[in-house]
Amino acid sequence: MKALQIKKVTHVIGAEISGVSLKEPLRSEARAAIEAALLEHHVLFFRDQDITPEEQVEFARQFGEISTPPFTPKYSKSPDYIVLDQTTPEGEGADNWHSDNTFMAEPPLGSILKAVLLPETGGDTCFANMVAAYEALSEPIRTMLDGLEAEHDITKPLQKAIDAGHSEAKLSEVQAKWPPVQHPAVRTHPVTGKKALFVNGNSTTRLLGLSARENQILLPFLIDHVRSPAFQCRFRWDTNSLAFWDNRSTQHFAVPDYQERRVMHRVTLAGDRPA
Ligand code: OGA
Ligand code: MN
Repeated sequence: MKALQIKKVTHVIGAEISGVSLKEPLRSEARAAIEAALLEHHVLFFRDQDITPEEQVEFARQFGEISTPPFTPKYSKSPDYIVLDQTTPEGEGADNWHSDNTFMAEPPLGSILKAVLLPETGGDTCFANMVAAYEALSEPIRTMLDGLEAEHDITKPLQKAIDAGHSEAKLSEVQAKWPPVQHPAVRTHPVTGKKALFVNGNSTTRLLGLSARENQILLPFLIDHVRSPAFQCRFRWDTNSLAFWDNRSTQHFAVPDYQERRVMHRVTLAGDRPA
C-alpha cells in the first residue's frame, strides 16, 4: 500500500493528494487524513482517478450526506450528481467568485467536482480561502461585519442558468420554493471554529439593517475582496482530476477562457445552518 501524500499548492489554500485510490471505500486512516487535510487546506486535488459517477457518489458519502440542489442543469441524469456541460462559459455564473447554493438555509458543506471532458487548454478553476480573506480585513471592518446578516437569493444564479439554456426550471416556481434566506456576513466554521467572510457575488443581495446607499458602497467592496491572489490557488485540470472543496470556508471561480466543450460531474454534500 502506497502512503497517502499531501502537497500544498499555495501557503494559504489547496493541497494535492496522491497515493490513494478513490475507486474503493477508503481505509479509516485515509478517510480521516483526507478530512483533516480538507479542514487544513480548504480544497483538495486528486489526479488520475478513473472513477464512475457512482464511485464518485460513494466517495462523497464517506464524508456526509448528498445534497440535492434546488435546481440542476438539464443534463443531470441522477439526483446524486450534477452534470456541467459548457462550451460558452462566459457569463454563465461559475465565472463569478461564489460559494455554492448559499441561497439555501443550509448551504452545502462541500462539493466534489470531477473533470470528464476538457478543452485542450483553459478551463482552470480558482479557489479562495475566505478565512484568510476575513483575516486580511482591518479590525474595525471585521468588528462591524461580525454583527451583520446578509440576504442570499436564488434568482440571479438560476436566471443565468436559464438564460444560458442549462436549466429548464421555471423561475417563479423555484423562487416560491426557495425564498431569500439570511446568513451571518461572517460565519464561524462548525469544525475549526475559524471565521470566514460569507458573502458572494452570485447570491448575496444585501446586508440587512444598512441603508440602500450603504449597501451600494459596502457590499461590492466585500464581494470584490475575494479577488486578491493572496487568498487563492488555481487548479489546472486533467481528465480524471477531482477537486474536493469546503464550501463553508472557500469561494471558487471557473475561468471562462475556452470555447470547446467542457464536461464536469459534481457531487454536493449537505451542510448545516451557518452560525
Ligand atoms: C461548481 C462550479 C466550477 C468549474 O461546480 O459549483 O462552480 O470549474 N464549477 O466547473
Ligand atoms: Mn460553483
